[in-house]
Amino acid sequence: MTINRVFQVNGKPFFPIGGQVKNSSGYNLVSMELAWKGLEMMGANFAEIPLYWEQLEPVEGSFSFQIVDELIDEARKRKLKLVFLWFATWKNGKMDYAPAWVKADKKRFKRVIALDGQELPILSSHCRANLEADKKAFKALMNHLKQKDEHEQTVISVQVENEPGILGCDRDYGKEAEESFLSAVPAGIVEAIKREQESEVYQNWVENGAREAGTWNELFGWSAGEYMSAWSIASYIDEIAEAGKHEYQLPLFTNAWLRRSWNTPGAMYPSGGPTDNVLPIWKRATPHLDLIAPDNYITNPSRFRQMNEMYRRADNPLFIPESHVYEGNSRNLFYAIEQDALGLAVFGVERMFDEEGNVQPFAKTICDSLRSVAAIIPLILAYQGTGNVHAVVQEEEDLEKYIDFGDYAGLVKYTNDERGMGERLYSHMPGHQRGRGLIIQTGQQQFHLVGTGFKLLLSKKRHPKQMHSMGSQESRFAGYVSVEDGYFKDDGTWENLRYRNGDETDYGVLVRPGTVVRIHAGD
Ligand code: DGJ
Repeated sequence: MTINRVFQVNGKPFFPIGGQVKNSSGYNLVSMELAWKGLEMMGANFAEIPLYWEQLEPVEGSFSFQIVDELIDEARKRKLKLVFLWFATWKNGKMDYAPAWVKADKKRFKRVIALDGQELPILSSHCRANLEADKKAFKALMNHLKQKDEHEQTVISVQVENEPGILGCDRDYGKEAEESFLSAVPAGIVEAIKREQESEVYQNWVENGAREAGTWNELFGWSAGEYMSAWSIASYIDEIAEAGKHEYQLPLFTNAWLRRSWNTPGAMYPSGGPTDNVLPIWKRATPHLDLIAPDNYITNPSRFRQMNEMYRRADNPLFIPESHVYEGNSRNLFYAIEQDALGLAVFGVERMFDEEGNVQPFAKTICDSLRSVAAIIPLILAYQGTGNVHAVVQEEEDLEKYIDFGDYAGLVKYTNDERGMGERLYSHMPGHQRGRGLIIQTGQQQFHLVGTGFKLLLSKKRHPKQMHSMGSQESRFAGYVSVEDGYFKDDGTWENLRYRNGDETDYGVLVRPGTVVRIHAGD
């Protein structure tokens, strides 16, 4: 499968791996200090930093991009790429980052009206003045980014808005919204839905009579409010994205506050945001967004993967702009890479430190994982989509995992013990990190491993008659041409740090965080 490598630097694919700073860190460089420190500890190659509409356009029509330039200059010094997050009309289903002059003028900049007639602290997507004001500011930002950064390309992408949607009700019940609700569903939506017969939207449409045309209510019944909001909000964001791209052709995306199961829209998640159930509507409405990304904080590994699958579509490459900085995600992130994620960030890099600025004990686990990924990026870029990128994740009670490598059978054992098969109860021992990482098969006999807490034993598959006795231990079946430790440099070339042989390979090949093991297997 060919992967649509949305993120590029000077025409070359880039795999962003790193972190997002906390919501208020982007206001000035002083607030960024701890964040830079965390990003460095992680071995991150990129940072996600919010830009606030209220800060960039404090007075209508008068822009200040000083902080944008400062952040770019600082990132360059630290050899980091940036994804800016445009906190404007929406931030988590609310309007907190709109400028004071927008907040103050409720007549011009209309709010969402709830069913009971109350005004909510959310800008209405049905109000043209809201869209025009946001669009004007976004265009100015994109134009500035082009002037400042087109040559160096420190900024690789911009997220348009943040977790858009309506928190508080399923839709806007204001005058303009009401008119839309009672109008015919725009042309093209039904066609798009019919192409996704597995989707919830399609099933809803069928249950409501599979009409070719009609009002939202007629076509979708109970879900009409949510679907109309999805269309309205997605179209609003797409218009902003289109205008931004006109200024500067950067990849643009938006992110989703996930719907974790069936829940009342607007109560448990922002209604009309790009949740899994309305992706057919969102994709139809957003041709100018390069992707829609899940903020995947799900800790359960199988549900984490299931959610990623919802967003990994032929028309939507998977990218995870937010995930937990905590321990569980230090394992889950390897699943995301196996699922062809274009990159991943953990949220709140500052959370790795306590009040006094000391490193929190859990920080080592996420840093080990991210550093391991960073060491093998050229192979991730080359081998995702081929079926040769294998996640190794020790889930609860797991002791081992088998992987079929074609000519070779692979046995992964979760352990930190270089010699012997010990620590079988490793996952239950306090203080131990669970095994996790990646194995990338780069040739019939070539394997690259990163991660921690596991070893790989390889055996050549043979006809039973050709078996020769090498002793009873599984470990002794493998013969190696060579086993090396090293890492991949940014230009993709291999840097050898040392060779292993004898005791360091006889019992399987153990991984260590931050370096790559390269195995050339023999017969
Ligand atoms: C998701 C949002 O997108 C982030 O800005 C942040 O608020 C986190 N949730 C919560 O920590």
